[in-house]
Amino acid sequence: MSGTRRLIVAIDGPAGAGKSTVAGRLAAHFGLLNLETGAMYRAFALKAIEKGIATDDAAALEKLAAETSIALQPTPAGNRVLLDGNDVTARVRDAAVTQAASQVSVHPAIRRWMVDLQRKLGENGGVVMEGRDIGTVVFPDADIKIFLDASPEARGERRYEQSGKAAPAEAILKEIRERDQRDRNREQSPLRPAPDALVIDSTDLTLEEVVSRVQELVTARLAVPGR
Ligand code: DC
Repeated sequence: MSGTRRLIVAIDGPAGAGKSTVAGRLAAHFGLLNLETGAMYRAFALKAIEKGIATDDAAALEKLAAETSIALQPTPAGNRVLLDGNDVTARVRDAAVTQAASQVSVHPAIRRWMVDLQRKLGENGGVVMEGRDIGTVVFPDADIKIFLDASPEARGERRYEQSGKAAPAEAILKEIRERDQRDRNREQSPLRPAPDALVIDSTDLTLEEVVSRVQELVTARLAVPGR
């Protein structure tokens, strides 16, 4: 292989660790597509909310999934998310959708459906795919695996700043802790680093420092003969 065309970079980690920023910057730098898999779970959660389906009703969710289409359109400003052909990009960031996304994602049938979709999206390579299980389940053979972590307090603080201090800092930290608890402890593909992932704890790093560290890693990987 040559150049960056076939490269698959997996970036996993908890909410607020800076995955989207790092993935977006990497994608721009190396000419890769950035695919945010969290946005897919969010879009599905939005549909469940709209249809009045409880996030613990596994059978109804599975049925709903069979009649749902979700697509991502990477743009320089981030992913556009299409739910059944409609642009729901802004709506999937609502706090209620955020919690519901974490709740629907515990169901094995929903995860299998999403993983299939995500493998199709990334099968030609040339992607930075970010999520929770990309390096462990979706692309266990990814060329580069990064697990981006940070303390809950640091992640809460970043989210607080990003939100323009719109929501109370304590509420943001509580939401992050709840999602951590669910995402890390679910039975099916819980959030954890792949054995061969590079774990970066960004608690005491700026996102600039993280970006340059990851860029160096990708550059080094691309220099390996046979790629
Ligand atoms: O990355 P995000 O915050 O947009 O993700 C929203 C939720 O979706 C997250 O709390 C857990 C779930 N998710 C997942 O289970 N697996 C992924 N690959 C991506 C997201």
